[in-house]
Amino acid sequence: MNGRRILLVVSGGIAAYKVPEIVRALTRSGHEVRCVLTAAGAEFVSPLVLQSLTGNAVRQSLFDAGEEGAIGHIELADWADAVVVAPATANLLARLAHGLADDLASTVLLATRAPLLVAPAMNVNMWEHPATQANLTTLRERGVRFVGPDAGELACGWEGQGRLSPPEEIAAETGLLLGSLSLAGACVVVSAGGTREPIDAVRSLTNRSSGKMGYALAAEAALRGAEVRLISGPSHLPTPAGVERIDVETSLEMRDAVLADFERAAIVIMAAAVADFRPAEASERKIKKEDLAEDAGLQLQLVRNPDILAEISAERGNRIVVGFAAESHDVLAAARRKLKRKGCDLLVANDISRADAGFETDENAVILLTPDGASEELPLLPKPEVAARIFDRIEKLREDRR
Ligand code: C5P
Repeated sequence: MNGRRILLVVSGGIAAYKVPEIVRALTRSGHEVRCVLTAAGAEFVSPLVLQSLTGNAVRQSLFDAGEEGAIGHIELADWADAVVVAPATANLLARLAHGLADDLASTVLLATRAPLLVAPAMNVNMWEHPATQANLTTLRERGVRFVGPDAGELACGWEGQGRLSPPEEIAAETGLLLGSLSLAGACVVVSAGGTREPIDAVRSLTNRSSGKMGYALAAEAALRGAEVRLISGPSHLPTPAGVERIDVETSLEMRDAVLADFERAAIVIMAAAVADFRPAEASERKIKKEDLAEDAGLQLQLVRNPDILAEISAERGNRIVVGFAAESHDVLAAARRKLKRKGCDLLVANDISRADAGFETDENAVILLTPDGASEELPLLPKPEVAARIFDRIEKLREDRR
């Protein structure tokens, strides 16, 4: 493996005594490692040990003129090809999730644009606390990768989830994170969220899509080094790091935005729930009851929207085009028919009749279908992990094509 530059951030949990082993595993793979210790981290592992193992001075303070003079904190953040946080305490996870920058470690984590791998370790009750779990969800949505924690006997005497993953596993995940810059130079277009089709000045037709799946895909593409264009219907989700977001409302606007980037795209993923129909005419003024005859209903005339996925699939050339199918019954058969009708390279089908997956949820259970008739059913997974599995599949398709 080619040696890369790894910044290892060590926070203050008892598991920090395993950090020298992580450093050894990383340097054995040929990587250059620099360490940043939090104040508490330095209580558990000796800076001198880490300095000897890495051959680089260990940084601990934001305001130490000598340390800062040798390599400034922004320089350090830019230097890294990947950043690994191990062990990550509940406190560091909270600071990272909330964007605090109150010491060197948190400041560097906020300043870096390198992909991030986090290995949490803590007491099981701290791990399971809703605050920690909410922070994890936030970080996952931003594209942070996690390894562990494992379940077992904890240093605090409790049994449960909270053990730091084994050093070799953390090193292997770091390798994956680095190797996964496999989409460097590729432009990836992802559509996300639902569209909004105006009826009048205040009302619209829309759907339950939250955009979570599409945003997770965009974050994953950015992690893999792609230039990412996220074409998003109205959504409250934060734009993932390294992603350029284009906001649209209607299906027609979405079509224009997708086509505008189509030429340079290598991969197009239509994760958005695009309305199939729109009101034939949108009234510029609010439609008022008073304007209608007493007791009269309101008839809405709907017209078909262009099918963007079918259109770009037909024109795709060398591009990989991925579609989504939200099905409420007979999922596999319906998805097979849709794959054929749309003509894309990969169809991701999800069963929206499940309460724990599909629209608005944080997890998804999908089936991946390809035109050769193969299908792969994935278990229920957090959407960022589903996104990673979808990209593994896309990359395989690209390799096969080469
Ligand atoms: O036909 P249906 O709407 O169920 O297909 C879903 C898939 O087609 C999704 O990938 C969605 O993004 C795409 N689609 C589209 N343009 C439409 C409707 C759906 O690209 N007008």
